Amino acid sequence: MARMIGVIGGSGVYDIDGLEDAKWQAIETPWGTPSDEVLTGTLNGVAMAFLPRHGRGHVHSPSTVPYRANIDALKRLGVTDVVSVSACGSFREELAPGDFVVVDQFIDRTFAREKSFFGTGCVAHVSVAHPTCPRLSAACLAAGREAGVTMHDGGTYLAMEGPQFSSLAESKLYREVWGCDVIGMTNMPEAKLAREAELCYASVAMITDYDSWHPDHGAVEITDIIATLTGNADKARSLITLLAAKLGAHEPCADGCDRALEYAIMTAPEKR
Ligand code: ADE
Repeated sequence: MARMIGVIGGSGVYDIDGLEDAKWQAIETPWGTPSDEVLTGTLNGVAMAFLPRHGRGHVHSPSTVPYRANIDALKRLGVTDVVSVSACGSFREELAPGDFVVVDQFIDRTFAREKSFFGTGCVAHVSVAHPTCPRLSAACLAAGREAGVTMHDGGTYLAMEGPQFSSLAESKLYREVWGCDVIGMTNMPEAKLAREAELCYASVAMITDYDSWHPDHGAVEITDIIATLTGNADKARSLITLLAAKLGAHEPCADGCDRALEYAIMTAPEKR
């Protein structure tokens, strides 16, 4: 199977640069219509698919993003590796706005989203103990560094429902008690669904603000976020351009992301 990289672009990232044979394709799935058409093409000889998570023009809120349709559309196109690019707030002084964090853990506090491809008719329980793919994450880290971005290796992402930002008490709880590093609204259930779809998944969290805990920064304002986002989006596009060269030929995932369902399905074959 040939490698195909699927990029899910977050706020501020609505396209990617330099794709050859680029075309926007409409994909339908049993889970509904994805957030937008998918931009496909090749970059440095590697097949790419790009999907703007919020749609061009930013029409889906974090709660209304069709996460299942998005992951399924990428799977149907032949994507093997999904890279999430998303804006986030920081809980650590040293994780500054403009820096990127390749996160490796999540705390899922979302509650108003469909979180599984499985349910009545076919029941499966996959492990998300290690929700991101180490090899794909390492490639994102290396590509970001080569693009000149200040990259941080690993961190815990608190996924909140939104659309409002956190209260000061929540921000302090997530930071001081739960030990989270960054906060965002979109990586869950996306990471869980990628695992159920047996896709490698890595998440590049682009810091736009210090959430509300930081005594010198006050409340999160969307105007500040947008100002940082513009610079972040250019850096993200450079990272993606360099990523293809970091991955090499497609092989079975050393960590088994592409075999996540092997022992996960509970329903007897004759009942499925
Ligand atoms: N996205 C960007 N900044 C954020 C924050 N502080 N909280 C949640 N999502 C965000």
